[in-house]
Amino acid sequence: AHRPLIAPSILSADFARLGEEIEAVAGADWVHVDVMDAHFVPNLTLGLPVVESLLKVSDLPLDCHLMIEDPDRWAIGYAEAGAYNVTVHVEAAHDPVMLAKNLRAAGAKAGLSVKPGTPLEDHLDTLKHYDTLLVMSVEPGFGGQSFIPDVLDKVRTARRLVDTGHLKLVVEIDGGINAETIEQAAEAGVDCFVAGSAVYGAEDPAKAVEALRARASA
Ligand code: DX5
Ligand code: ZN
Repeated sequence: AHRPLIAPSILSADFARLGEEIEAVAGADWVHVDVMDAHFVPNLTLGLPVVESLLKVSDLPLDCHLMIEDPDRWAIGYAEAGAYNVTVHVEAAHDPVMLAKNLRAAGAKAGLSVKPGTPLEDHLDTLKHYDTLLVMSVEPGFGGQSFIPDVLDKVRTARRLVDTGHLKLVVEIDGGINAETIEQAAEAGVDCFVAGSAVYGAEDPAKAVEALRARASA
């Protein structure tokens, strides 16, 4: 396997000091930004104006996870602003193939996310148009929840489809990733690990990133 990618989620950071909180994880690979609209999920976080400001101060690529309704309308703005990867939910997108094309045309990678209860099988043709697959390992909406191990079957399926050349995707996992669960996820074939509370809840976020990477490589 390649070097595991670690993407700290600023959902668990101090929202009054986001620039510093991103600097504190300079050794990470991507910064994961959770956009929630209080409709697709029962929580509200931040939107495009904040992401635009973060893009100006972040040396790391921003991985924007849109937990919003009608991403067909809103996702493109994040790509145009300069986000590295823009992930939309398959449960919310009206025309996910067109959406991926638009995101790529705007210069971003296109990501598709599936909630824990959403099977992959129904969306394999759609995934051909995407660069990243974000497997949710908790119900989206909040940080600090427990990892749902059942979703590892989806990771294994995706890994197999990538390794056999049927799909070309970065396989990403999000929710309940910590020093213990990251090993199972790595074993199942995850490329990129999102971690919120395990990074920003730690005494030293930079060390937490390195510890997670070491566990994922073990
Ligand atoms: C949850 C978000 C996650 C969240 C993960 O809906 O998509 O990115 O920050 O938090 P932890 O790592 O604490 O489960
Ligand atoms: Zn997320």
